Amino acid sequence: MKTNNVAAEVFCMFLFLLLLAGTGNAAEIYDFNPDWMFLRSDRQLAPKEYREHKSIWAGAKAATSDVVWPFTAINFEEEGFRPVNLPHDWAVEDGFYPEEDGEQGFRKRGWGYYRKRFFVPSTWKGKRVELQFGGIATHSTFWINQMLFHHNYSGYNTITMDITPALIYGRDNVIAIEVNAAVFEGWWYEGAGIYRDVKLIVSDPVHIKTEGGIQVNPLVKLDGWTIEGHVDLVNDSKMEMSPVVDLSILDPDGKKVESKRLLPNLPVNQTVRVPFSIRLASPQLWSPDTPSLYKLNVVVKGEARTFDEKTVNFGFRTFKFDFTNGFTLNGKQIKIKGVCNHQDHAGVGAAVPASIEEFRIKKLKEMGANAYRCSHNPPSENILDLCDKYGLMVIDENRAFNAGPDWLEYVRAHIRRDRNHPSIIAWSIFNEEPLQGEYRGQEIARALVNAVKSEDESRPILAAMNGGFFSADSARNVLDVVGFNYQYGQIDNFHAKYPNIPILLTEGASAFETRGEFATDREKFISSSYDVDAASWGTTHRKDWEAVLNRRFLAGTFVWTGFDYHGEPTPYNNKFPANSSYFGCMDLCGFPKTAYYIRQAQWLSKPVLYAIPHWNRHEMDGKEIDVFCATNVDEVSFILNGKNIGTVKVDPVEMLTHKITYEPGTLLLIGRKDGKEVVRTQLETTGKAVGLKLIPDRTEIMGDGYDAVPVTVCAVDTAGRIVPDANIPVEFEITGLGRNIGVGNGDPTCTLPEKADSRPLFNGYAQLIVQSVPGKGSIEITAKSGKLKSATCSIKVASAEKTMMPVIPGFTKGEVTISGWRVSQPSTSKPGLLSDNSGDLLSPAQIGEDLILKPKDWVVFFCKFDLPAGIAEEGGSLCFRNMTGKPSIYLNGELALERKATTPGDVVLPLKDISGTVEMNVLMQPDSRGHIALGDIVYITPEKIKATKSSTK
Ligand code: GAL
Repeated sequence: MKTNNVAAEVFCMFLFLLLLAGTGNAAEIYDFNPDWMFLRSDRQLAPKEYREHKSIWAGAKAATSDVVWPFTAINFEEEGFRPVNLPHDWAVEDGFYPEEDGEQGFRKRGWGYYRKRFFVPSTWKGKRVELQFGGIATHSTFWINQMLFHHNYSGYNTITMDITPALIYGRDNVIAIEVNAAVFEGWWYEGAGIYRDVKLIVSDPVHIKTEGGIQVNPLVKLDGWTIEGHVDLVNDSKMEMSPVVDLSILDPDGKKVESKRLLPNLPVNQTVRVPFSIRLASPQLWSPDTPSLYKLNVVVKGEARTFDEKTVNFGFRTFKFDFTNGFTLNGKQIKIKGVCNHQDHAGVGAAVPASIEEFRIKKLKEMGANAYRCSHNPPSENILDLCDKYGLMVIDENRAFNAGPDWLEYVRAHIRRDRNHPSIIAWSIFNEEPLQGEYRGQEIARALVNAVKSEDESRPILAAMNGGFFSADSARNVLDVVGFNYQYGQIDNFHAKYPNIPILLTEGASAFETRGEFATDREKFISSSYDVDAASWGTTHRKDWEAVLNRRFLAGTFVWTGFDYHGEPTPYNNKFPANSSYFGCMDLCGFPKTAYYIRQAQWLSKPVLYAIPHWNRHEMDGKEIDVFCATNVDEVSFILNGKNIGTVKVDPVEMLTHKITYEPGTLLLIGRKDGKEVVRTQLETTGKAVGLKLIPDRTEIMGDGYDAVPVTVCAVDTAGRIVPDANIPVEFEITGLGRNIGVGNGDPTCTLPEKADSRPLFNGYAQLIVQSVPGKGSIEITAKSGKLKSATCSIKVASAEKTMMPVIPGFTKGEVTISGWRVSQPSTSKPGLLSDNSGDLLSPAQIGEDLILKPKDWVVFFCKFDLPAGIAEEGGSLCFRNMTGKPSIYLNGELALERKATTPGDVVLPLKDISGTVEMNVLMQPDSRGHIALGDIVYITPEKIKATKSSTK
């Protein structure tokens, strides 16, 4: 296990100084992703068998899980474990197995075991420490310091847990997690392991509740907007508190436009909901075209310190699902041009870096989409931030159709987490549940609706249904909006029977395409990209949009899907080697298929003209070939090798398919609107591939160890033209501040490993994903393919020092809490020093306990401890935090410190020239009221902490 003592020392010093200065701050948030140990197993690790009383007794107590589950032991040897950094998806790391489930992409899932050691400084005692896991696939069990702490039964929910009671201060702590991915929740690839980010949050005992603690709900009224909401304040301190809570509204330029002060009273051990209401006359509105984001900043202050501070984004918009007009946003009728998506990407599986998610969202915007359905599960928080930022309206979907107590709580937590995002226009409670048309289904749906409404009443609730629309006990009865997954033939009947229920296509199309292929061949697992191959329950991209355009009452469509995803290789289900979907407008890497351009033609207002096939079709020489144009112009003229071969009218739905006798060369296409040329494009026959080309999506990334960039790899001819039918092997080399985190090429039948230094081009393209390693400098990438000219590219790595989240140091030479104290009976005269065998004279003493004596009485506290070698060699400090009384401290019989003050305060003494086992005697007299306390905590640290003048004399 990697340790970082220097960082640990700086970190402890920082925290200690903070404490001594008596100041608090916003919660400290640490990056908990690095330095885990991991073991994958085909089977669940068996518990230890034991039958005799002693072990059973021991194993039945808190913090003894090691008796049954050895891998949870603090001192477990970790044999067979390997280091990993999170986020981590073990399914994508491994190869493909024909005997595994094709819907999950022929991957091995099984069990995974994670462990992490992390140092908990003594200064955290009294604070609240929480862990937050963004998502773990699929079931997970957590042990903290050998204490069974939590179970979680979904792969998609954010798990927040207050681990304060399980921590041991001043030393390494251990979290152990069993992940069971042998179970599944979907019929698509779900990944396996801790595949989203993990954070550790250290808060003042008085703080804004971490999970969903701020709600912002802007409402439009006759005379302007009112921002309603609340702040949940937690008081875990020992005193009643009356903090000042300052709210500020910042406009999209960061300018403060409104503020408000709240003065709540917080009783001890209570969480208090503090409502607020702030008026703002005419804010900028959020929409897909103008995604204006405001911020609410909340600062909670006490007399001596700031307890907490948090900022959340929100936005102002009105919208309505309308049974006549479909959908209106900010008062205007618009069509929802949506895409459904699963969360994974080529090369990285479900562990998608935030910057790759951003790459994907930008691609969808370029395609003309204005909406995103998180099918069929809550997304990462980053996806929602990106939809807010770039302007995609979101249907945020629940995973399990289950009204059991755990699952209802997952729903409530999901809504609390997401409800401030202006992008979200609806909650979806299920997708195609077989019970959707019967009483049981209606009642589960009702329970889920109530769970959603208990946390957010500002948005409609829908479900994506594929049946049961008309039955008496349909889930329809409890929904605000009914989502149709396909069922095109039922839409009008439903609207006729229930004219007052707004409807939309929550899934549309489900058409198949293999990028760069032009004829369907079921034997070879290939689907044509002429938009002619679709699922029996679905339709083509063109017909899907026609269904929307023909019905004003239909709010819009969510195309199944924006991107291909691992698994569910319909129509080749469970037929190895087809291992990823064919539905995407883009392939698994985000390379556009024809469907992408069809959607552009349908959804963008600018002229679009894109033609297929590519013009390297030598096998078609002299034969008729279909040229298809994805276009929104009125007519297209075809000019083949300089010869005008005709002008063809474009059908607004079907667009244009024109037969041409193929000859190599150049086919120029000119698109006109109202008789005027508005766009042109050309197909060219290229020469053979002679070299490679690398096209990074960005040329500068952040050196934070997370930022990642997709690099397109393609082959070029002597004229530098991209060769669209190149299918050649490519190898990669990376030097400098970068690493290869995965490769792909969009071929749904490719079974080469996705974690590799090579990837063949598939119909012209492959993708390499490069992630920074922390630092400042550059990354050099080389791509090679046999005798072809290699390609190189350079990516600048910018310093991210200022923005990086701090890391908790894994720590071995650390602080040690001094425990095992014993105390003598009070005496009226100064007692002598005690030793380890003073046995019976002493009773156990508790840290944190306040003893009450007569003012002149004496007691001796005694304990024995081993000084860690590091401190014996380098020195350090012994710290009593918040000691009350007048102590004389002796180490191995020598007087080390005397303190005259008796008021509570920190007592610090330097440790030097001392080693091995130390016997410590603390002879004490009480303060004037007769109180004596060793303090909240006693610990030794490698830090050389200066004793404060006020506390020691
Ligand atoms: C739907 C389902 C999706 C996906 C799609 C494929 O029925 O909701 O998850 O399977 O079909 O067409």
